[in-house]
Amino acid sequence: MSMHAALEMSSIKPEETYHLRHSVLRPMQMLADCAYPEDKQAQTLHAGCYLNGRLVGVGTIFREDREEVAGRIGWRIRGMAVSSEARGSGCGGAILQTLLNHARMQTSTEKEIEVWCNGRANVEGFYRRYGFQRQGEIFEVPPIGPHVLMVRFG
Ligand SMILES: CC(C)(COP(=O)(O)OP(=O)(O)OC[C@H]1O[C@@H](n2cnc3c(N)ncnc32)[C@H](O)[C@@H]1OP(=O)(O)O)[C@@H](O)C(=O)NCCC(=O)NCCS
Repeated sequence: MSMHAALEMSSIKPEETYHLRHSVLRPMQMLADCAYPEDKQAQTLHAGCYLNGRLVGVGTIFREDREEVAGRIGWRIRGMAVSSEARGSGCGGAILQTLLNHARMQTSTEKEIEVWCNGRANVEGFYRRYGFQRQGEIFEVPPIGPHVLMVRFG
């Protein structure tokens, strides 16, 4: 039996991400502030992770080139949020893999892709685990705290 037998992945609507974005990432803001401008773009994917039938994790990926790169198709990850009681059960990893697969599937095979995010400094290790590398120095995003630019090629 798989270690993560009770986990199920599904694509979800933008509105279904708001509660976990709010409670995990931005409890100091309004629920309405948890909508991102890119949420409803045609190529955007919202991935949801269910544990025993309950939505416990979300993550979003959409097309956005970084200014620094030429010739690669850019995909940006935002709003990775797993509820505290579900962390460490494989949920975040399953979401990230789903988002990476989506970016690859949505991009024509002859193009190179670059997946990136501005992650919180304390989860750098999570992204490294999936082949991302940090670029540049730690930077502050007030009022949230220190962040790192994480980038993955291909
Ligand atoms: C970061 C987060 C999404 C990870 O989700 P998760 O469900 O706990 O992660 P998983 O259980 O799938 O872990 C997958 C792997 O990443 C590793 N990992 C998870 N969090 C890590 C961290 N902070 N640092 C280093 N490694 C980490 C796990 O050990 C695991 O490795 P393994 O497969 O070798 O055992 C989750 O902890 C979270 O939502 N945190 C709070 C919100 C946040 O900071 N989000 C990120 C904003 S950029």
